[in-house]
Amino acid sequence: MKFARIAGTGSCLPGSPVSNEDLVARGIQTSDQWIVERTGIRTRHLAHEGLRTSDLAHEASQKALASAGIEPNEIDLVVVATSTPDCVFPSTAALLQSKLGITNGAAAFDIQAVCSGFIYGLAVAEKFIRSGSHRRALVVGAEIFSRILDWSDRGTCVLFGDGAGAVVLEASDEPGIIASALHADGRHHEILCVPGGVALGQVTGDPFLRMDGQAVFKFAVKVLGDVVHEVLQQSGLTTAGVDWLIPHQANIRILQATAKRLELPMERVVVTVDRHGNTSAASIPLALDLAVRDGRIAKGQRVVLEGVGGGFTWGAVLLQF
Ligand code: UT7
Repeated sequence: MKFARIAGTGSCLPGSPVSNEDLVARGIQTSDQWIVERTGIRTRHLAHEGLRTSDLAHEASQKALASAGIEPNEIDLVVVATSTPDCVFPSTAALLQSKLGITNGAAAFDIQAVCSGFIYGLAVAEKFIRSGSHRRALVVGAEIFSRILDWSDRGTCVLFGDGAGAVVLEASDEPGIIASALHADGRHHEILCVPGGVALGQVTGDPFLRMDGQAVFKFAVKVLGDVVHEVLQQSGLTTAGVDWLIPHQANIRILQATAKRLELPMERVVVTVDRHGNTSAASIPLALDLAVRDGRIAKGQRVVLEGVGGGFTWGAVLLQF
């Protein structure tokens, strides 16, 4: 066993798409034209009140397990990347494990790296598998960001959506994950954060997402280009050797700027931000699952996944599908 490779993918989007016009109809001081021109977003999915992050993770995981053709109890590691867990604790991963009926004592924990969370989760799970300690991991990105949005702040509330994506990662002699890079720089924590906390039975401070959009934009374009080059260099490849780029889906202009820096045509970039908005840790596995299921990503192709988010955190994974 030399590699950890993706054996199956799945995803979940709650309810029907909510259009920009629907947001205007709900009283948000915005327009379809502004949102499309500045972000490329046309629709997003919003979870209804009764749904929890672990429910979305559950549906995505069931689909990933089915596509891998394995039973829940064959999983020995459950990793959920989320910034919108069901509760402070237990972890959403433990709740997901229970919902899936995994009773074999598999390890389960959450990863908190905001929009880079799925990249962090994948890289961590790969290290568990390559060490030989675990054989099959379920790695999930799941979010209900609509619950941490200030719906009176038009600069942020139109950008995000809810959803989940999952992969089964298993030990294999065939390639798999070839390279990964993870980074963080906590000095920039204030440009994208939910500053509040919980203490003495109360939410303390501001419980909503706050963002300096322009600062985040500039930071994202710089670090994403750098980190993709880093994983390519680790493996001795250039962008010519990459079939698909699956970026974190925050803004079409960030995707275009990154593709340009990497000299990759947009035809080789998987774009879902128009349909899903920014689903934070879920955006990359959602896009991966979509492109696998519609036949764009085929076995043997090389794919780079990259993400950036609050912290600041960023990272990339290069894999052979
Ligand atoms: O996943 C985490 C990563 N997050 C990101 O990558 C987000 C990165 N940042 C961005 O995508 C962009 O900065 C935004 C889409 C958030 C904002 O675009 P922008 O071009 O930087 O606009 P801005 O914030 O400078 O605002 C321009 C104008 C302002 O009006 P004035 O001051 O020029 O009169 C805003 O008040 O647009 C106004 N505005 C809006 N107008 C209509 C802000 N939000 C809206 C809105 N609808 N929803």
